[in-house]
Amino acid sequence: MKILAIETSCDETAIALIETKGGIKNPQFKVLKNFVASQIAIHRPFGGVVPNLAKREHLNNLPILWQKISSKKITTLDILAVTVGPGLEPALWTGINFTKELYPILKKRNPNLKLMGISHSEGHLYSFLLNSKLKLINFKKLFPAITLVISGGHTILVLMKNLSQFKKIGETRDDAVGECFDKVARLLKLPYPGGPEIENLAINGKSNFIDFPRPMLNQKNYDFSFSGLKTSVFYYLKNKKTKLNNQKFKADVAASFQEAAFEALIKKTLRAAKEFKVKSVFISGGVASNKTLQKRFKAEIKKTNPELNFFVPQGKFCTDNAVMIAVAAYINGFKNKSRQLIAKGNLSF
Ligand code: KG4
Ligand code: ZN
Repeated sequence: MKILAIETSCDETAIALIETKGGIKNPQFKVLKNFVASQIAIHRPFGGVVPNLAKREHLNNLPILWQKISSKKITTLDILAVTVGPGLEPALWTGINFTKELYPILKKRNPNLKLMGISHSEGHLYSFLLNSKLKLINFKKLFPAITLVISGGHTILVLMKNLSQFKKIGETRDDAVGECFDKVARLLKLPYPGGPEIENLAINGKSNFIDFPRPMLNQKNYDFSFSGLKTSVFYYLKNKKTKLNNQKFKADVAASFQEAAFEALIKKTLRAAKEFKVKSVFISGGVASNKTLQKRFKAEIKKTNPELNFFVPQGKFCTDNAVMIAVAAYINGFKNKSRQLIAKGNLSF
């Protein structure tokens, strides 16, 4: 099967073409084309994503990326998929409208072409399937599994019985963890997006320099909270503005903040893994690309439950991309699950 997917939920315009085989029991993917036009430089001066600027850029980028991707391979397309939410509605509509215009043209080449609306969150959920090491593992030995989806808009813990049956067991009650990284980065006078900036700065910092709170860590549920942590950093820095010129000080704050956020994520995920007796832990979304987080997860798993499989997609499949949307379309195709082609900013999981 060949699947073309379009993603415009936030500040990345993305188009991808993948080839799939193996069915729902042993899905395998070959990425034929993967284009992402990043808008980071455009939003950076504003310290975050400006929805109408994102819309304008998607409208500019979509025809350019389409030109790059369209080739003879497109004639044999089986599924055309597009993200319908959650995300910024003006941005989502650009992808949906572009896809609706493409569909009749591509359908002339294959009358059986399926058109599918896909949840961005499910794209992140299934992106662990893009880890090439998965091929070495018997698929049956992966489930049940716990997936932690962590990005600028998500902090969700999901229990997966198998690829098609899953349920959310916890989520953030306020800010998403990536959003918290972006806000703390602003407090530290670092550019947008804050996640990679904090990760780099923290490498030279002491993670036990400040004992920031680990909100909800000791509560029995699987929910998270990050707005209190952000406020703690704000109050800690309040009377220390001049110290922000001191790189060592900034690195210590970044490392201590990062450690507080990661401890909450890791402890709750592994507690869920234990309670639900899962065989694997997957993490995905922009924050999952953080190498310190990956190392901390691996070390904690080694210490507490070395039998657990642990998978993270490659960095380019952690942050927003259209390959993960194509993967989710493949899986959803087996369930006949397609969403309406209407932008839904708050589409729930
Ligand atoms: O998945 P993504 O590209 O878009 C959303 O769906 O939100 O995630 C972007 C978020 C931003 O908040 C960004 O600061 C964060 O992921 N992020 C990171 C890292 N790379 C991106 N957070 C921590 N460490 C990183 N290395
Ligand atoms: Zn995302």
